[in-house]
Amino acid sequence: MNDYLYADIDTASQDEIKAFDIASLGQGFYKNPYPVFHALRRYSPVYRMPSGAWFLTRYADVDTVYHDTEMFSSDKTVDFKKTMGRTSLYEHHTTSLVFNDPPKHTRVRKRLAPAFTPRALRALEGRVKEVVAVLLDEVAEKGSFDLLHDYAMKLPIELIGDMLGVPIEDRSKLSPWAIAILGGLEADLTRYQRDEAAKAVDDFKEYLRWLICHRQKTPLSGNTGEILSKLIGPDADGGSLSEEELLHNCIFLLNAGHETTANAVTNGIDMLLRYPDQMLRLRADQSLITSAVEEVFRFESSVQLNNRKLTTDGEIGGIAMKKGDYLWLCIGAANRDPEVFPNPDRPDIGRAENRHLAFGSGIHACSGMSLARMEARIALLAFIERFGTIERNGVARHHPRARFRGFVNYPLRASQ
Ligand code: HEM
Repeated sequence: MNDYLYADIDTASQDEIKAFDIASLGQGFYKNPYPVFHALRRYSPVYRMPSGAWFLTRYADVDTVYHDTEMFSSDKTVDFKKTMGRTSLYEHHTTSLVFNDPPKHTRVRKRLAPAFTPRALRALEGRVKEVVAVLLDEVAEKGSFDLLHDYAMKLPIELIGDMLGVPIEDRSKLSPWAIAILGGLEADLTRYQRDEAAKAVDDFKEYLRWLICHRQKTPLSGNTGEILSKLIGPDADGGSLSEEELLHNCIFLLNAGHETTANAVTNGIDMLLRYPDQMLRLRADQSLITSAVEEVFRFESSVQLNNRKLTTDGEIGGIAMKKGDYLWLCIGAANRDPEVFPNPDRPDIGRAENRHLAFGSGIHACSGMSLARMEARIALLAFIERFGTIERNGVARHHPRARFRGFVNYPLRASQ
């Protein structure tokens, strides 16, 4: 271990991480998990939790696991049964492509690919700018508003609403469904959360059945960025998704791209407010927006954790593991690994070689990363262009969830 790399980093003590358990975290952790991640990486980078699952914090280990799909499985049919039971929540998460291995995963990923081609994204870019302009007018009118709820959350809902062809008047239903279903992935899931999440899956499925029927009778015309119609029919090879695959992967698209993107935009403004030198730098040179957005993804990764399971006995970082062992890949820690990112706790919007893992890597790497990047670039730059003065207007609270990094609320005051 290169201990000198930690000289300027705020790490928790070796004693503090002895009892670390992702299923039982204190409030302080949600506000700032990084001292704990640094201590884990420094003293116990391949750490065994009380449940027997392993928690990985080194960039190199996390990256290796992402790329070895023979040895590390994404299939959760056994593990989710313990927490989710035989509910529709279980049916949803175990049918989503992200929690499947090849060949099931490959088939669904191929079907979704046309939604994320450069051509499909170009069709959405104008729409992103249009939605951002309307939202900026709305918040400018208010002067004091909530960055997360009045701005950041509304953009991805509109975009995914467009992709699924959801009529405008129905879009307010989408966000509560997505939040409940994703909450169902937390390690400390309560019975109440599980039941709420399962109900959200049932309601969403029923809605999508109606939407598919409606779309078959009333096709959309023009290039609207809608992909549902393409997913319904057979593909070029004559194959098609089963009804369950179609419904659950449409639900997954919303879940995957909604809060993650909204959190990236909120985390981005938060980062620029906490580090005013970086805000000034971006205001002075807007061409930095591309690297600035990458730094936001690295510095406050909206997705902090992924999971895999060993398909055979093996080892990671010299530690022996057994077939069936469960792994937590800590993106939040990997993206602040001082072996890879110099001065990792200090944002640098011009950071070169920013090979962060915010979108995962390997065959499951985020399908929507180009869309998320485009949304974040446009939403962040337009926001700071519109408002010369941006100030916190109350307490912004972090969401008490370990898997997703973001806020519950973010009160702001902004003016030109
Ligand atoms: C800042 C925003 C986003 C972040 C940080 C993010 C992060 C991630 C991560 C880490 C994974 C890998 C999961 C794993 O390997 O287990 C993933 C997968 C995925 N994401 Fe995203 N995502 C974002 C936005 C989006 C958007 C906008 C969409 C689409 C509308 C999307 C669709 C997907 C899909 C379909 C997968 C599954 C890919 C597969 O299993 O092959 N994501 N995302």
